[in-house]
Amino acid sequence: MIQKRGIELLWDPRLNKSTAFTEVEKEKLGLVGLLPDVSESEDLQLQRVMLQLSQKNTDLERYIYLVNLLDHNETLFYRTVMSDPARFLPIVYDPTIGEACLKFGHIYRQTRGMYLSIKRHGQVKQILKNWPETDVRFICVTDGGRILGLGDLGANGAGIPIGKLQLYTACAGVPPQYLMPMYLDAGTNNERYLHDPLYLGMRQTRPPSEELSSFVDEFVSAVQEVFPKCCIHFEDWTGSDAVYLLKRYRDTYCVYNDDVQGTAGIVLAGMINVARLKGSKLKDEKYLFLGAGSAAIGLADLICSAMVQEGMPLKDAQARVHMFDINGLLDDSRKDLFDFQKPYAHKHAPTRDFVAAIESIKPTTIIGVSTVGGLFNRKVIEAMSRINERPVVFALSNPTDHAECTPEQAYTWSNGKAIYAAGVQFPPVHFNGQTFLPGQANNFYVFPAIGMAVFATQASRVTDEMFIEAAKAVADQVPSDLLKQGLLFPLQSNILEAEIQTAARVANLVFNSGLARVDRPPDMVAFIRRHVYRPEYAEEASAAKPARSETSSAPLRAVRQA
Ligand code: NAI
Repeated sequence: MIQKRGIELLWDPRLNKSTAFTEVEKEKLGLVGLLPDVSESEDLQLQRVMLQLSQKNTDLERYIYLVNLLDHNETLFYRTVMSDPARFLPIVYDPTIGEACLKFGHIYRQTRGMYLSIKRHGQVKQILKNWPETDVRFICVTDGGRILGLGDLGANGAGIPIGKLQLYTACAGVPPQYLMPMYLDAGTNNERYLHDPLYLGMRQTRPPSEELSSFVDEFVSAVQEVFPKCCIHFEDWTGSDAVYLLKRYRDTYCVYNDDVQGTAGIVLAGMINVARLKGSKLKDEKYLFLGAGSAAIGLADLICSAMVQEGMPLKDAQARVHMFDINGLLDDSRKDLFDFQKPYAHKHAPTRDFVAAIESIKPTTIIGVSTVGGLFNRKVIEAMSRINERPVVFALSNPTDHAECTPEQAYTWSNGKAIYAAGVQFPPVHFNGQTFLPGQANNFYVFPAIGMAVFATQASRVTDEMFIEAAKAVADQVPSDLLKQGLLFPLQSNILEAEIQTAARVANLVFNSGLARVDRPPDMVAFIRRHVYRPEYAEEASAAKPARSETSSAPLRAVRQA
């Protein structure tokens, strides 16, 4: 290993300790005179970061500041974010990331991750080798096709894989050096960006789907060759591409789609706790989705699998799930449906009136994954409240102003009866002398834990059963007093510990399913803990700070070789 010294060391965000280098290190590493003549503790550095953050006026400014910090000092960045996840997750991810993506080309300062455009078709393997790490375990990849609920953002969507992978580390302790954000540039149909001089993507509209599919094929197989232990996490593709690509690769490669499976996992966790609150079972509930895209299908499929685990035949489970999209209720006369939507299109008279659909189907739960804010209006909530003692309302679309309704609306219009969760964080609501704690059904409770389990076990596949197990583990961690106040998911303040416990349960399943590529450890929680990244400086600045693999004696904290 070639040790970095002097200014080169300060420019390496993974090794830089900034004002925390000791006197001895400064002497040894040629740093004397290149830094203020102090040796600060990590806590003092964190204090300065907090002070500087407090002087920023908006979350977008805080986001830009934190990205800049990450570019210079990775340890201090993660120390900051992990010091108070409830405060910082909404800044590094939802909802601030939505605004950051909309302005990505304008706020861009420094490259992060990889950018691969379709004009490089045929050269993907060679280009992947330009990445400075040789052991990549996760690539989070988007083509910017459907970013949050904001539509086709093209290259501006590159902010999403960057933010998602930060959550692997911040929420579940997956060491950051194994993570690669990736933007696959296949153009955009977004006229606004095509005409923006600061836009950072190809200025062409999207190709036919066969062309995109062939490029993604090359990408997926090149990843296996260059990074054989890598799992590919698909994120924010348009609904039909998301479902299609997952189906195409899931049995052959280690891949998953967070919009399809991660969302499903977290909502299933919420559903399990709803059933606990109501004293019912999943199979007693009836679900009506508003939106029938990738999130809806993934969730419906997983809920059905969980009902099947409760002993219900699949057909009966599917009969309890209904969907309503931009063209109305999915009924069996519709000719515009994808194959994957058909199991949820039942015999029913066509209708484009959501309230009428509620009154006829009588769901116990409505789930908003429509991308459109405000669609759960007063009439919708009142209709649900007439039919149900405890109407369940999940308004999952992101970012904040795309939520189908706010918790305040749900609690007020249902006269305090609703059990509510959103995709983003909302503050507690006080209504009629009661305090309600709206849950945040965000998949960051699930995918980082799945990621940690896959990382630690070197799992060869990601299965739906792993998401069901994660959902059960997440649901089990909500204290009963908070559950009674409506909180369906664990508190964010303790998210790392919650995800370690979830990862351990998923890892156990990975071993039971024969998908692990390391030996089974005697104590699963201790095994996961051994892999957890801690945001602490390495003893010697230019040495590796390892999270050790079970199979390898080499430090896993790969250091860029010069
Ligand atoms: P998608 O684009 O695949 O599907 C959107 C669906 O909504 C389509 O079926 C469309 O027909 C329907 N729709 C659009 N306008 C409508 C209208 N006016 N009335 C009824 N239906 C309408 O999108 P995807 O991937 O399913 O995501 C949907 C939303 O869920 C997004 O806002 C996304 O941010 C959010 N989401 C939230 C997650 C969370 O953790 N809370 C995770 C994943 C997605």
